[in-house]
Amino acid sequence: MKISIIVPTYNERDNLKELFERISSSLRGRDFEIIVVDDDSPDGTWEKAQELSRQYPVRVLRRTKERGLSSAVIRGFEIAGGDIFVVMDADLQHPPEVIPNLVEAIEKGADVAVASRYVKGGRVENWYWYRRIISKGAIMIGRVALPKIRNVKDPVSGFFALKREVVEDVELNPVGFKILLEILIKGKYANVAEVPFTFGLRNAGESKLGQKQIFNYLRHLWRLMLWEGEIDRLVKFSIVGTTGIVVNEFFLWFFVNFFGMHKFLANLPATELAILNNFTWNDLWTFKDLKRKPFLGRILSFHLAALTGALVQWLIYGILLHLGAYYLFANLVGIGASFVVRFLVNRHITWS
Ligand code: GDD
Ligand code: MN
Repeated sequence: MKISIIVPTYNERDNLKELFERISSSLRGRDFEIIVVDDDSPDGTWEKAQELSRQYPVRVLRRTKERGLSSAVIRGFEIAGGDIFVVMDADLQHPPEVIPNLVEAIEKGADVAVASRYVKGGRVENWYWYRRIISKGAIMIGRVALPKIRNVKDPVSGFFALKREVVEDVELNPVGFKILLEILIKGKYANVAEVPFTFGLRNAGESKLGQKQIFNYLRHLWRLMLWEGEIDRLVKFSIVGTTGIVVNEFFLWFFVNFFGMHKFLANLPATELAILNNFTWNDLWTFKDLKRKPFLGRILSFHLAALTGALVQWLIYGILLHLGAYYLFANLVGIGASFVVRFLVNRHITWS
């Protein structure tokens, strides 16, 4: 099987020689090509790569009209001739010695193999604690927002391998720069493997990804949630929630006026009926296409979600009151949080 290594570059001139050398010794005896996709770097990266292509199996694509990390990778896929694609950075933060492990994982049956900082044996070198927290937090948000990738520990890694078929004829959006995330949502695959690696320090030059990253990442997540239909689900879930309020109010009124029930007590069956109403519509509509556990499990799990939501609502209300917030405002925040919690518990547990 032929391996195509795709390396997007921007001002990486001084890293190329060592990069090519280490890739070549890691893949000795294998059929491979290195594809450098350079965006007309001012430091002449493309020129240097061309010069080195006399020594190493390198093809250079110099782009003058397009820019961007993700679009460079996508362009690389389009011209790559291999059966296995590997994507990596040029700055040696991705050690070429890990490539054989990635390829092996694919040969053993994975469709996508991710070089991961966050599986056992993987790590990052020299990151301040707050950078670690931001990185892990961002990944956690992504895994919660996109249930499809919840088992992948490092879905934003820039270092990964995949079978050609995973991205062939798949339209990838080059706007977000987390190209792996895009592939994990839109690509055609069944199995993902993660291979540990140490995300090292940059060799020469400087990072191009700055402060706008976090905002861009959230925008990218939002777009992928839309694409996945998760936002549709959120909307449906809130419509169902609204019908629940109506059901709750109606039966409260009904039990008090026709059964003469105590107002305090009547609240219980009214709430239960609202929960059952919501369960029914969510089951038949909001989550109808998802894998489902047995009926009893679903309905129990739905109650658990309702309970958790109520608890969170009450807790947040209490905390905000304690902090001196206006009580109606505190309640609104609590309701909002409860909504999110109930949605997530149901999405990840009741209908997973
Ligand atoms: N062609 C092209 N065009 N290449 C680019 C561009 C661009 O606009 N911007 C960056 N690159 C290249 C760089 O030259 C480098 O080879 C690679 O993309 C990664 O860029 P860095 O600037 O080194 O990124 P980083 O180290 O901050 O981020 C890396 O780690 C992240 C995980 O923390 C990347 O691998 C990210 O993809 C990854 O998510
Ligand atoms: Mn880097």
